[in-house]
Amino acid sequence: MSLFSRLVVVTLPLVPKSLVGRVASRYVAGEKIEDAVDMVRKLNERGAVATMDVLGEEVSERSKAEQAVEEYIRLFRRIDSLGLDSNVSIKPTLVGLKIDERFCLENVERIAAAAREFENFVRIDMEDHTCTDATLRIYDELQPRYGNLGVVFQAYMHRTLQDIGNLPREQANVRLCKGIYIEPRKIAWKGYQTVRQNFLMALEKMITQGVYAAIATHDEYLISGSVGLLEKHRVPHDRYEFQMLLGVDEEMRQILLDQGHRLRVYVPYGPDWYPYSIRRLRENPEVALHVARAFLGLQPSSSR
Ligand code: FDA
Repeated sequence: MSLFSRLVVVTLPLVPKSLVGRVASRYVAGEKIEDAVDMVRKLNERGAVATMDVLGEEVSERSKAEQAVEEYIRLFRRIDSLGLDSNVSIKPTLVGLKIDERFCLENVERIAAAAREFENFVRIDMEDHTCTDATLRIYDELQPRYGNLGVVFQAYMHRTLQDIGNLPREQANVRLCKGIYIEPRKIAWKGYQTVRQNFLMALEKMITQGVYAAIATHDEYLISGSVGLLEKHRVPHDRYEFQMLLGVDEEMRQILLDQGHRLRVYVPYGPDWYPYSIRRLRENPEVALHVARAFLGLQPSSSR
């Protein structure tokens, strides 16, 4: 990332929200359920599957967490009635983790129960390190009862290899990503190459333990390294998938599809798009260019 882009990243919180919205629109399907449904339909037509995410996090009111649960239940109904190929992803702090862990568990359980009714699946996203233990406790308690939940491990966390070792032998389904939150060095690897190395070690450990692997990255080095590991261990096509974020590297998406891999796109939607969009902009190497174009009133350029 250029020095100018780094400067833009630091000053992003000062950029007017409307402008952030314009630059980040590629990462979000829209504000309404129908926007997300339309996006998933298009992705399905192109051979990709999806995971839909109701945007929002760090909720401090019970009623907001409960509204999010209702939205997920509506979402399962829409997915089912339209025959879409999509599951859902949820953020624990959207459904009350920062209010009370038990309350959050009950909310995740309601979503898991709805998923079971519609024969669907729930991925529990991993947020910052203050959420990791509680998120894993919720997953550990509910997964044996529902069998339709998956969790996320972050390759930048020192603890990840150990967490993989602690997974149950049966039914584990893990999304592996680098990790997006800014964590202290005493718990998270900081080197770019170190995180890549830990990612591939974690993936190999998952594969050899028989864990279903959802490989979530746009990093060509990791994608090629992952393909190598899948081939080395002769992992069947129904025991893994690649995952990418909406709005990022559609060309790589198509390459993976053309090579016959299962490819899932993360499709976030909802009115609370701001924190998610800021995180996405922070990792866009061309953020400065996009912000400058938006300032000048030019159309957002398409993702690569
Ligand atoms: P890296 O950031 O190095 O990007 C590799 C290349 O991809 C870049 O050089 C650029 O070309 C392109 N790219 C990446 N991000 C871009 C962007 N925003 N705009 C334009 N181009 C971009 N994290 C987490 O902590 N908890 C979670 O639950 C999840 N969930 C999740 C689901 C899915 C489906 C994905 C793909 C990712 C996540 N993440 C996540 C985010 C993840 O941890 C990580 O921050 C991003 O995927 C970016 O890391 P990459 O592996 O893509 O590498």
